[in-house]
Amino acid sequence: MVRKIILDCDPGHDDAIAILLAYANPAVDLLAVTTVAGNQTLPKTTLNARRVMTVAGIRDVPVAAGADRPLVREQIVAENIHGESGLDGPRFGEPTVELDPRHAVDLIIETVLEHGDVTLVPVGPLTNVALAIRREPRILPRIREIVLMGGSYTLGNVTPAAEFNIYADPEAADVVFSSGLPITMIGLELTHQVKATPEVVARIRALGNPVAEMAAELLTYFASTYKKVFGFDGAPLHDPCAVAYVIDPELIECQPANVQVELRGTWTYGATVCDMYGVTGRPANARVAIRIDAARFWDLIVEALATYSPPSS
Ligand code: RIB
Ligand code: CA
Repeated sequence: MVRKIILDCDPGHDDAIAILLAYANPAVDLLAVTTVAGNQTLPKTTLNARRVMTVAGIRDVPVAAGADRPLVREQIVAENIHGESGLDGPRFGEPTVELDPRHAVDLIIETVLEHGDVTLVPVGPLTNVALAIRREPRILPRIREIVLMGGSYTLGNVTPAAEFNIYADPEAADVVFSSGLPITMIGLELTHQVKATPEVVARIRALGNPVAEMAAELLTYFASTYKKVFGFDGAPLHDPCAVAYVIDPELIECQPANVQVELRGTWTYGATVCDMYGVTGRPANARVAIRIDAARFWDLIVEALATYSPPSS
């Protein structure tokens, strides 16, 4: 059955691939793309979403800009990973995909109320999703599931304890994890199982269309910063994992757990505290992703990028 989704993102190299996967795969009906401040400032993440959608020819999906800062904490960005533009690597022309005039929170609310049975796929800080839930509680019964990229049950990547999307707006994450909605948490332990190695990049580049070329350039840059900062041999493709789960839930093994967002820790602020052994007795409020079929994941990515054939000359 086709899953209706809204992709809330902060492009961001992996966000860009998530947009391309969500639009191309027939198991997903991409109802809207919304942007949030995260990897870079809101103007930059929004320009980047429009850039990617322009190159891919995605003109039948509304894209709207949302929150330009976190709910409470000071804003942070991830320039060391995504660069000054937030999408360093490829050269982009002027985007021709127009911005929807609505605020992203309004677009999320209107789209959920109109369609119902919508899966929210936030792959950046959760500011927009938290604001939508608080602004219009009537959307709650019309949201099928939240499949979010964020968090971790071991180490963080922006502090030793916290993953970037949660750390960038912990209070928003707390609103989401305490919403009572069905949540699947695609965290770092999962996404680090799918690193875009040079072999993967070569497989993508061999597709020979402009979108695959853009993806290869994005992954090459993304891999360079991950090598420099983390010593990884390839950039983990975080955000597309959330979309891949919606496409095929069998792809990813999850475990129910109680997840709490740390809001007071001196050294642990923004950590997702996941009770994987059930020692607290607190009821599970999320399903935490633990294992992915990496080969099938890469097939999904390559199949998606292959659909963007060169514009007919
Ligand atoms: O920690 C990884 C997450 O933070 C990804 O969504 C990446 O795009 C950044 O937003
Ligand atoms: Ca992201």
